[in-house]
Parts: sequence; C-alpha cells; structure tokens
Amino acid sequence: MLLNCAKSKGTAPFSIEDKRLTAVAATHTEPFLLDADHTLPAQRLAQLHKALADTLRLQILRLLRNESFGVLELCRLVDIRQSALSHHLKVLAKAELVATRREGNSIFYRRAFITDDDALADLKRAAFDAVDTLEIPSEQAMQLEQLQQERSELSLSFFEKNADRFSENQGLIVEREHYDSSLIDVVEGLGLPADASVLEIGPGEGRLLVELARRFAAVTAVDNSKDMLDLSRAAIAADGLSNVEFLLGETANARETLSGAADLVVFDMVLHHIATPAATFKDVAALLKEDGLLLVIELCSHDQDWVRSSCGDLWLGFDESELDQWAVMSGLRFEQGSNLALRNGFQIQMRVFKKHAN
Ligand SMILES: C[S@@+](CC[C@H](N)C(=O)[O-])C[C@H]1O[C@@H](n2cnc3c(N)ncnc32)[C@H](O)[C@@H]1O
Repeated sequence: MLLNCAKSKGTAPFSIEDKRLTAVAATHTEPFLLDADHTLPAQRLAQLHKALADTLRLQILRLLRNESFGVLELCRLVDIRQSALSHHLKVLAKAELVATRREGNSIFYRRAFITDDDALADLKRAAFDAVDTLEIPSEQAMQLEQLQQERSELSLSFFEKNADRFSENQGLIVEREHYDSSLIDVVEGLGLPADASVLEIGPGEGRLLVELARRFAAVTAVDNSKDMLDLSRAAIAADGLSNVEFLLGETANARETLSGAADLVVFDMVLHHIATPAATFKDVAALLKEDGLLLVIELCSHDQDWVRSSCGDLWLGFDESELDQWAVMSGLRFEQGSNLALRNGFQIQMRVFKKHAN
C-alpha cells in the first residue's frame, strides 16, 4: 500500500488578523500588500530580523546546524531556564527559522528547511551561513559532545542487553516475510551491477545482509554492537558466503578506511537508533562514490513512545522532509521513494538518494 507520511509542520504564517498591521497594509503600498497566501511580507521580514537580533538566538541556531534538540537538551546546552528558552524558541519559530517535531512528550527543534519559493530564502540562507561561522564556546561544545554520547550509549546498551530478543522485539513492528520481499524488490530495482561495492549499516541479525551478499561482489557490514555484529556474522557463515567484511563501529569509523568506496549504502531500520542522524548523512556522502546510492528504510514519524523502552529507539521515526533535508545538506539528491504499512499502525518509508558530482 502506498501511503504518504509527510506532515506539514511549519509554523503558521503571520495572520492578517493582526489589526495594526492590517491597517498599515491598507495605507501603504507594495511591501505591505498581502501575498498569495494572505501573509504580510513586510511582517515576515520584520520577524526574521527580530529573531536574528539576539546573540542567544544566534547561538541556538548555531547549535541546530546539524541536529535537532529537545527543549531540555537545549536548556542544558545554552544554560538558561526553560521558560526563557521557550520565549526564544517561539521568536525563532515565528520567523520560520526553526521547525518543530513531536517526539512522544517532548518537542524537538531543528532548523527550518528553506524552500526556493520562500521570498525570504536568500536572506535566511545568508543568515544561516553567517551563523555557521560563529564558534561554539568550549563549554557548550563539551556539553554537546556529552549529550550525543549519552544518546549513543542509550541505543548501544539496548542492543547489548537485547541481542537475543531482537526478533521478538522487531516482530512488534514488522511482519518479516512481507517486509523482506519488499526490500529485496527495492534493492533489485536499483539496477546496480553484480560487481558493486555495498555497505550495510546496522545489519542486526543479518537478514538483508545475506541477500546483499548473494547479489553483490563486495559487502561490508558496519554495526556498533559486537553482539549484533556476531549475529550477522553467523548468518553469513550459515549461508556459506565469504564476500562480507565486518566492521565494529559507526559510519564515522567506516569513513576512516572506506571513503569514496561504496556504490550503495543501506540503512534498514537503523537511523532511529542513531544519536546524530544529520552527521550520519554527511558520513554516508563521504563513503559513496560519485553517482553512488543511499537507500534508507525507516519508520515514518509516529507517536508510539513505548518503542523507546521496548525497541531501544532514540527517535520516533522521521518525516520524509527531514531525511530529504539531511540528504541535501550532505550533497545527496532524492531519487525515488515508496511507503509501506506495517504492524500496529507503523508505516515505513523507503527513500533512495544519489550522490552527484559537485
Ligand atoms: C533495529 S536494528 C535493525 C537491524 C536490521 N537492519 C534489520 O532491519 O533487521 C538496528 C541495528 O543497528 C545497529 N546500530 C545502532 N546504532 C548504530 C550506529 N550508530 N552505528 C552502527 N550500527 C548501529 C544496532 O546494533 C542494530 O544491529
């Protein structure tokens, strides 16, 4: 079944109900005229400048360069009270510089995706570029690293404790037979030659890894859990295959030895376990050859908080626009996608991105 899991999460544009500005609009010409979607361009411009006219808000935008953070995480990073931070986030959201997503009971903030049809796109891009030249103070950089490490450890410790119960947990979300055959169709549909070099990140028990190794000459399995990597090693051995290299670590480690080596990188239900998904996309871009493909199979955004404790998920799925944004920021372009309905109301998105020459 094809389903669309994208949600529109931008903040509402300024309403024409602001009486003072509507009155101004009635008495002034061009810059105050309502645009096609009934917003006041002058008001958006003013909101944008207001949002940028504060050093703390610039710091927040800087921190959101690559990752999204919850309000409490941001409080920790910029060391201010939640009520004060909420005010700043509201100003940034009104200026459409940040977008939000709900993760269970928490709201996560990220930089808004700038679209070309936004009249303020150039200004916003220039503002983000300028913000990115700002240095992150050393205390904040340390907090940032610690926070990312805490997220990673949470995910890693889950797989260390639950490797033997993996299938049982995954069965809550996925009906394997149907899922596996859809995945194989997608991989075959990519049209890669048999001598392609393929990397699977987080192969878990190795079900897809075996299929990849049957089809492609050189396959590398990268997993940061020794127990899970051992499971996939056993699956490959049981199938009598010998064309798979195993690497204990993450994409950042793979990058050290395999930069520019892959025709295809696959993430199958892994990204929602990764502490820093945006940075992971950057690693992937470095791992791919020119014209190489990234295949992401991932849960759509959902609100089933129980997966954090039962399945070790760090993120409650992703909107396709988030995946696309991280891809674009890493120099990858969207090629094709399809969706699949799973158990217990979950939906999965399969998205293919291509690395293009600069
Ligand atoms: C939910 S399992 C998915 C396994 C398999 N791809 C599947 O769909 O059956 C997630 C896998 O990703 C691995 N993993 C989690 N975070 C990782 C990271 N940062 N780098 C590499 N592997 C990771 C876990 O150890 C686990 O094997």
